[in-house]
Amino acid sequence: MAAKIKIKPNSGESPKETLAFVEELKRQWVETIDAIPDPFLMLTDDYIITKANVAMADIAQVNVKNLVGKRCFEIFAGRDTPCDNCKMRDAKAGKTLPGYEIHNERNDHWYEAATRRLKNVSGHERVVQIYRDRTDAKKLQNQVAQNEKLASIGQLAGGFAHEINNPLGGILVFSQMLLREMNPDNQHYQDVVEIEGAAKRCKTIVENLLDYSRQRPLKPKFESCDAHALIANALKYAKLAHNQNDRCDIELRLDAEKHTLTTDINRLTQVFVNICANAFQAMPDDGVLTITTSNVKAGKFERLVTKISDTGVGIDSDHIDKVFEPFFTTKQPGQGTGLGLSIVHGIVQDIGGNIDVSSIKNKGTTFTLSIPLTHNKSGKE
Ligand SMILES: Nc1ncnc2c1ncn2[C@@H]1O[C@H](COP(=O)(O)OP(=O)(O)OP(=O)(O)O)[C@@H](O)[C@H]1O
Ligand SMILES: [Mg+2]
Repeated sequence: MAAKIKIKPNSGESPKETLAFVEELKRQWVETIDAIPDPFLMLTDDYIITKANVAMADIAQVNVKNLVGKRCFEIFAGRDTPCDNCKMRDAKAGKTLPGYEIHNERNDHWYEAATRRLKNVSGHERVVQIYRDRTDAKKLQNQVAQNEKLASIGQLAGGFAHEINNPLGGILVFSQMLLREMNPDNQHYQDVVEIEGAAKRCKTIVENLLDYSRQRPLKPKFESCDAHALIANALKYAKLAHNQNDRCDIELRLDAEKHTLTTDINRLTQVFVNICANAFQAMPDDGVLTITTSNVKAGKFERLVTKISDTGVGIDSDHIDKVFEPFFTTKQPGQGTGLGLSIVHGIVQDIGGNIDVSSIKNKGTTFTLSIPLTHNKSGKE
């Protein structure tokens, strides 16, 4: 039979029994705070930890016993000074200061912190801090905001592209007619060749824009394919397009067990071509392009996660939020239109996937692409 737990000491108990009762309460309290999955701290006004739970010790990657006596910001964020936005001193005794945001630079996680001040029996004040990890929610929030922004830019760009598509078609057709009828010795022949070339370049840009803004009837065409073969194929195109022979080493670690996809083959190929093209351009002298695949469970569905990493110039931290925006480019005029990744973003959305980028300046860049293995007719997992 389970032991009966007393909830208050009986009068007339011996000191030994009272001590055992207090020990039991202490054990229950420690077990309870350790069972809480959110990091928890009790602190003095000088930020010195007097109690902490296992979840906090996990963040600090030390044994929970070694937390007492340390300062919370050293343990939590590896800082010498209190975290920016910490409101620990602002809470009045007995009042909870709920839900303010703290960014932990050490593990790059966002936490929602709640602070409450308590008075103990001897009148000393303690501060209780509870942190809830909001990193995933924050990422999702940013992604939704980014998607909305891209959708409105896409609409604008699409409208613009649609309007200039017809006059551009006229310039191209008439310049080609002129070229057919003109004698190549004519002093204006080369000028018309230039006009035709420029009109063709504009046409590619307009087509990319229309593609990006999805004003074309570009409903994804879902077919079954082998993702590993598709990646190898796309790599071949990207290498050809960038005269990429032996300049960069290529490492393929295509380890995903399940790599048969139901997806839009042509458009997914374009995704890989655009990403690999950027990677080659980011490694003008030499470097390594690594592509890995793995399977990840997302609820009851499984996804194919592909990481494409290069050891190139990297992306400035000021630029990283902009790379999926149309016309964002750091390349010289004529070298890039800034549409490659915006098209990638649009396609990835259409096929029910998501894409993320991380980069370290002068070290390299990694694009992480997660796509569903299967789709029903409406394109949903
Ligand atoms: N692998 C990478 N390494 C470094 N920077 C990158 C990488 N991929 C993208 N970028 C940055 O993102 C910008 C936007 O990329 P995107 O592919 O959309 O356009 P682009 O390559 O400049 O032009 P386009 O693809 O239209 O020819 C690039 O100009 C570059 O600054
Ligand atoms: Mg590009």
